[in-house]
Amino acid sequence: MTHQELETVARALVAEGKGILAADESTRTITKRFERVNVPSNPETRRAYRNMLFTTPGVEAYISGVILFDETIRQSADDGTPFPQLLAQKGIIPGIKVDTGAKDMAGFPGEKITEGLDGLRERLIEYRGMGAKFAKWRAVITIGPGIPTMACITANAHALARYAALCQEQGLVPIVEPEVLMDGDHTIERCEEVTAATLWAVFSALHEHRVLLEGTLLKPNMVLSGKDCPQQAGVEEVAEATVRCLRRTVPAAVPGIVFLSGGQSPEQATQHLNAMNAMFDTPWELSFSYGRALQDPPLKAWKGDAANVPLAQKLFYHRAWCNGAARYGNYTPEMEMAVA
Ligand code: 13P
Repeated sequence: MTHQELETVARALVAEGKGILAADESTRTITKRFERVNVPSNPETRRAYRNMLFTTPGVEAYISGVILFDETIRQSADDGTPFPQLLAQKGIIPGIKVDTGAKDMAGFPGEKITEGLDGLRERLIEYRGMGAKFAKWRAVITIGPGIPTMACITANAHALARYAALCQEQGLVPIVEPEVLMDGDHTIERCEEVTAATLWAVFSALHEHRVLLEGTLLKPNMVLSGKDCPQQAGVEEVAEATVRCLRRTVPAAVPGIVFLSGGQSPEQATQHLNAMNAMFDTPWELSFSYGRALQDPPLKAWKGDAANVPLAQKLFYHRAWCNGAARYGNYTPEMEMAVA
C-alpha cells in the first residue's frame, strides 16, 4: 500500500457523520460484559452477539469501520459470510486489534505496559489477507499517587510507535490508542496534564520511528474529571480542556481523532463529542471509536436471546445515529426520546 492509500483509508474512517465501532473486546473482557447480563460466554454466543451488531440494518450510514478481535475476524455471519466480508459488503471497513493486552510493568507497581510486538509483522500479514485495512493497539496510563512515571509513558509510547511503523509497512492504518484511565479521584486539571505529557511522548516516538501521520489515527481519552473526583467537570469544560490539550500536542497532519468512551455513559460520550464539534473548529476530524458507549444499550436488550435481536439492533442503530449527529455538533437531548 502506498502512502496515498494509507491516507485514503484513514480519511474514510473519519468520513463526515461517521465513526468507528470498537467490537474488539478480548475473550476475557467480553465474558465480563456477558456476565452482567447473564449470558454464557462461548465462541457461539460471542459470534451471535457480533452478528447482531454487524447486521444491523442501515447502521453503515453512521459507522465507517469496525475493530474486530482475533476470534471474531475468523468467524462468520448466520448466512456463512465471513465477518470481514460482510462488513466490506456494507461499505464498513474491517479492522483488527493487534496488541495482546496491558500487563503489569516490572518494577513499576500500579503501572501497565502493553505487549504484542513479537511476531507482529507475521500477524499483520495474516490479518491483511483476511481483509483488515486498519489496526488498533491500546496503551494504558494510570493516574494515582506518584504515577504515571515517565518510564511508563515512554515505554508505552515506544511500543505504540513500533506497532504503527509495522502496520504502515504492511499497508494497514494504525490507530494509536494511549488511554489515560478515568479511574481515580484526580481533578480534570490532572487529567489534562497527564494526557498532554502522554501525547507529547507518543508523537515524539511516532516521529522518531518515521510513522506517516497522514496515514495514522489517534484514539485518545477525553480530558475528564476522575470518576471518584468530588468536583465533576461539566460538558463544556470537558470539551474546552480536551480540545485545548489536543491542540497543544497533536500535529495537524493527523487526519482524525477518534475518542474512546472509557467508562462514560453512552449519553455523556455523545454529549462531549457533540460539544467539541459544536464549539470548535479543529485541524483534525473529531470522531468516535466507542466500545461500551455504543454497545451497552444493545447488549442489555439482547441478553443472548434471538427474539431480542430486533430491539437490540434498534438500540445500536440509535446510538450510532446520535453519535453521527454529534460529528456535526447537531445532537440534541430530544434525540434520546426517539427510541422510547
Ligand atoms: P470504550 O469506548 O468502551 O472505552 O472502548 C474503546 C476501546 O476500543 C478500548 O480499547
